[in-house]
Amino acid sequence: MIRQAARALTGLLRAPGFDPRGKVVVITGGAGGIGSALGRRLARDGASIAVLDRDAERCRQVVADLPRVGTAHHEGFVGDLTDPAQVSELLDDVGGVYGYVDVLVNNTGMTSAERFADRSLESIDHELLVNLTSPLYVTRAAIPLLRRASDPRIISTVSLAGMMPQAETPIYCASKFGLRGAMLSIALDLEPHIRVSSVLPSATDTRMLRQEAVDGGNALQFQSPPQSAEDVVDAVVRLLHRPRLEGYPKPREARLVRAAMAFPNLLPVALSFFEGKGEAGRHRYLTELQRRGDVVEVDGRLVLR
Ligand SMILES: NC(=O)c1ccc[n+]([C@@H]2O[C@H](COP(=O)([O-])OP(=O)(O)OC[C@H]3O[C@@H](n4cnc5c(N)ncnc54)[C@H](O)[C@@H]3O)[C@@H](O)[C@H]2O)c1
Repeated sequence: MIRQAARALTGLLRAPGFDPRGKVVVITGGAGGIGSALGRRLARDGASIAVLDRDAERCRQVVADLPRVGTAHHEGFVGDLTDPAQVSELLDDVGGVYGYVDVLVNNTGMTSAERFADRSLESIDHELLVNLTSPLYVTRAAIPLLRRASDPRIISTVSLAGMMPQAETPIYCASKFGLRGAMLSIALDLEPHIRVSSVLPSATDTRMLRQEAVDGGNALQFQSPPQSAEDVVDAVVRLLHRPRLEGYPKPREARLVRAAMAFPNLLPVALSFFEGKGEAGRHRYLTELQRRGDVVEVDGRLVLR
């Protein structure tokens, strides 16, 4: 037991570093805001990027725009990762092209601002499938390819909503609480052979957040202006250099969330103090999106472009 604890401690303290040159990185949801920013960073530093996404046109565009360094080869793999047969086929295709995977980044995601009482059971199932089940399908299918690499890693984009309830998006919270628990457990199971980490961002300026802001989703997350996708990428790169179970792009916010969750019975009172500031922040964000032309007014309604 002492030997096991010593090994775990050594693993924590060791800083193995990460050189992206020559590495194969698979990014699910790689055509989206955070996924494409991560692909660009790691490609710029010499990695080959496999972009897995269901959006064929964005996937093609993102792959075409990735910088190529040396012999790096980027490729798009289009499919719906909520379908286990497609997941298995896509990972076979990735194996056929690259032969192995150094880093798997589970990053697909969605959210819905439709209130819980109004949601169809199908839409609840779908959100859980996208955010929770599909990363588990992909992780399971990628393990044989990861085992062929010398220092394999798995990183999952969770969310601070995986640590903190949000009244407007309970299914998103359920999926991210679940994904956080699954990835912590898989880490304990697979380490030290495969290092497993999660990154837990808060509001990040991507299409997903813009849509949520337009639809009137969770307001608490707008206490301060949303961070950029590159801020989340910085946190992922830190996790690659120094693997840990979890990393937080905004560590202070993560500490506040942990403190709040130590007293869950106080949440209704504690959160009410932040509501007004959050609503004002959401309004400011929407004004900024209109100024940028990302959101336009059509027939008196705001619409995402
Ligand atoms: N934007 C935020 O504020 C925020 C905050 C915390 C966590 N996150 C998480 O970050 C991750 C990336 O989100 P983003 O903000 O870049 O959003 P995004 O909408 O820009 O990207 C999500 C990508 O996932 C893809 N996708 C969705 N369902 C899919 C499916 N079934 N099969 C294949 N691809 C699918 C989409 O096509 C899209 O390209 C998500 O897991 C999200 O939950 C985002």
